[in-house]
Amino acid sequence: MKIEVSGKGGCGKSTLSVLMARSMKKLGYRVLLVDGDESNIGIENMTGIAEPMHLLDYLGGKKGFKAKLNQTLMTDNPAGLFSGKQTIDDLPKECIASAEDGVEMLVIGKIHHFGEGCACPMGVLSKKFLASLETGDREVILVDSEAGVEHFGRGIVGECDLIIGVIDPTAESFQLAKKMTQMAANADKEICFVLNKVEPAIEDVMKQQLEPANVIGMIPKDHSIFMESLEGKQLTKTLPEVDEICRKILMKA
Ligand SMILES: Nc1ncnc2c1ncn2[C@@H]1O[C@H](COP(=O)(O)OP(=O)(O)OP(=O)(O)O)[C@@H](O)[C@H]1O
Ligand SMILES: [Mg+2]
Repeated sequence: MKIEVSGKGGCGKSTLSVLMARSMKKLGYRVLLVDGDESNIGIENMTGIAEPMHLLDYLGGKKGFKAKLNQTLMTDNPAGLFSGKQTIDDLPKECIASAEDGVEMLVIGKIHHFGEGCACPMGVLSKKFLASLETGDREVILVDSEAGVEHFGRGIVGECDLIIGVIDPTAESFQLAKKMTQMAANADKEICFVLNKVEPAIEDVMKQQLEPANVIGMIPKDHSIFMESLEGKQLTKTLPEVDEICRKILMKA
């Protein structure tokens, strides 16, 4: 199963991606957490996983990747990364790092230099990568994406089986939820929402703004999650709410 985690900037996509990856691993699944955010770099702190070689760098950076892509497009029998038949085990070992609990992680690529140009290659690579990967029965690819709807515009979510929209207590998040719902429908993809940073006093206000059937769960506002993020530490929190959300997601597989 391939899942994309989406939402506005700072709503908790990376936090939720890491917590869900661990929970799904605990539930007996092989989990590959994919850092699909070309700008932000915080997820490595949260996982405590030593950063693997980025896939884009492995492919020779933007230039090398472009050349390989052109080669692939020119052959009748494309092999390797874009064959459409690869599994997690076929991915370059240098690009996968593992946490102590067995969650695996891959980073698509990051912007490194002033003036290096747009992030289109990362978008193209994300799409090709997801399109070409086949997942087994008890395997999950969990993609933490960049803020906003760029990955919808690029069609990356079209390569996933499910989109999880993370909603924090802001009007912008709810506006974006409507837009993501429309875009997911256009792509014929299922989307469901997780309400994040929920406090008892605002729970009802948050719930009222979404179709109840589309809300898969709620995560409380948690001080220790916030503090670990502030201090750049590995996330240590486990939440029963996350486990419950993961069980529901995995039942869809
Ligand atoms: N349930 C929660 N309780 C308290 N704080 C939270 C919770 N979820 C996320 N946060 C905090 O919100 C901030 C943003 O979280 P995170 O980096 O996961 O968001 P993001 O959506 O990935 O952001 P970006 O768009 O920059 O990638 C962090 O300070 C994080 O600790
Ligand atoms: Mg993030």
